[in-house]
Amino acid sequence: MQPARVEYRRFRIEVLADDRELRAVLSNEERARLGKFKLPQAAAQFLQTRATLRRWLGERLNLPPDSLRFELSERGKPRLMGEHAATGLEFSVSHSGDWGMIALSTAGPVGIDIERHDPTRDFDALARRFFSPEEAAALRATPHEAERIALFYALWTAKEALAKATGEGLAMDFRAFSVLPEAGLPHVPMVSAALPQLIRDWSVFPLTAPEGYGAAIAVPSGVTPH
Ligand SMILES: CC(C)(COP(=O)(O)OP(=O)(O)OC[C@H]1O[C@@H](n2cnc3c(N)ncnc32)[C@H](O)[C@@H]1OP(=O)(O)O)[C@@H](O)C(=O)NCCC(=O)NCCS
Repeated sequence: MQPARVEYRRFRIEVLADDRELRAVLSNEERARLGKFKLPQAAAQFLQTRATLRRWLGERLNLPPDSLRFELSERGKPRLMGEHAATGLEFSVSHSGDWGMIALSTAGPVGIDIERHDPTRDFDALARRFFSPEEAAALRATPHEAERIALFYALWTAKEALAKATGEGLAMDFRAFSVLPEAGLPHVPMVSAALPQLIRDWSVFPLTAPEGYGAAIAVPSGVTPH
């Protein structure tokens, strides 16, 4: 038996002139969803992420990618359904701009997030709405704009990764916990400061991202993603 582990990969998303091979991997329901996207980039994000997910899961389970079936939790977390759920294989996906990311886990729930930096956003307003007082203060205390944007997206993606790992999604109280890295120790898992069960159960790691993007992954405590 393979040891329990979490793996992730990043891939480029582009609008393809011919995407028939990718569409062929999707279910009818997914093709219907694909047809509803108005922006070609948004359609490409969904198509390429879902097709890559199906291919990777299919490889792992030794099954044709188009045979896999998914269901959504009450809060919108997708998971394998039917007999495939019993394999214990968990996943998380994210897409933003020209990049997608997928995490596969045999070590319990996982959450991954990638986000393109958008310098036109109102960071103070977003921080007031979604960040803890400590996170908002850390942001205000970062004077250089480029560093402030990088910190904003490091915190944002870490919080999103946790929301996906726990499955809470948008229902999560994002202001109630902090993901600030421990002072002076940038490479240790980020630690959440306010919610005891989050600290006990989860670790969040920042991930290397392309220039102009932030990314993070959340895994059960004690697990190191590869
Ligand atoms: C849906 C959400 C989980 C992430 O959305 P996002 O960052 O906009 O988009 P991403 O591309 O990173 O992730 C989308 C994927 O999340 C997954 N997802 C949706 N709900 C989920 C949930 N409750 N748990 C885990 N994963 C979920 C889906 O697989 C979806 O992929 P698909 O559309 O291809 O099926 C949710 O947190 C959200 O809408 N956030 C919006 C931003 C926000 O207010 N964030 C506050 C953070 S500080």
